[in-house]
Amino acid sequence: MVMKGIILAGGAGTRLRPLTKVTSKQLLPIYDRPMVFYPLQTLLDAGIKEILFIVSPDHAGDFLKLLGSGKEFGAKFTYEIQDKPEGLAQAFIIGENFIKNSNVALILGDNIFEDKFSKTIRNFKKGGHVFAKEVPDPERFGVVKFDKNMKALKIQEKPKKFLSSYAVTGLYLYDHRVVEVAKKLKPSARGELEITDLHNWYLNKGELKVEIIKGEWMDAGTFDSLARATNWAMKRK
Ligand code: TTP
Repeated sequence: MVMKGIILAGGAGTRLRPLTKVTSKQLLPIYDRPMVFYPLQTLLDAGIKEILFIVSPDHAGDFLKLLGSGKEFGAKFTYEIQDKPEGLAQAFIIGENFIKNSNVALILGDNIFEDKFSKTIRNFKKGGHVFAKEVPDPERFGVVKFDKNMKALKIQEKPKKFLSSYAVTGLYLYDHRVVEVAKKLKPSARGELEITDLHNWYLNKGELKVEIIKGEWMDAGTFDSLARATNWAMKRK
């Protein structure tokens, strides 16, 4: 079955101010390329040819100018505006007409993966599949608790009390049911539709696969992680 891709590149980027005062976080440079090229390459490398960019109203024109129709990348790009950053799970509501009955891979516009996902994506049929990585600062992310056989028990968004050091990274594979599940979500205390609630919906049905990835993974949303990502990209050249 075809897998479509969504790159979520809206948001406010408040932690990177003043860098994000006049531009979008995902357009900032990571060494020699705009940040958004990295998640884009991850999807292209996985064989995804239809990609929706979700962007904020302030920077939509810049994304269009940078990325265009997708022809240059051998893909077809479309764009949608997210009026307000009301949560990662909102991507599936905004993307409803794009997703239709396909499976979908959502990737965050500020996430950089070393791993390749073509095999996993090619073999994905139904349910949900997320990727976890051990990190020193799990409290910044959705965190997975595993049992002793490494079976995922639960996922909690930014836990205050230590749960585990496995963060859910910003690439999520779902079947088309995710659209209807997202539509039923209620905003969390911080006013966002939480992607963690979607993971737990599939987890509770026994349909979520949580895979631990081996390669580097970076979220370039803070000054330190942005610098780390730039260093990593430079060394790799
Ligand atoms: P975050 O880093 O959680 O949020 P942010 O980019 O707004 O930054 P800050 O917390 O510093 O204000 O978002 C992760 C990614 O998802 C990032 O690429 C932006 C994107 N995003 C959206 O496109 N829409 C949203 O509603 C949210 C919450 C994030």
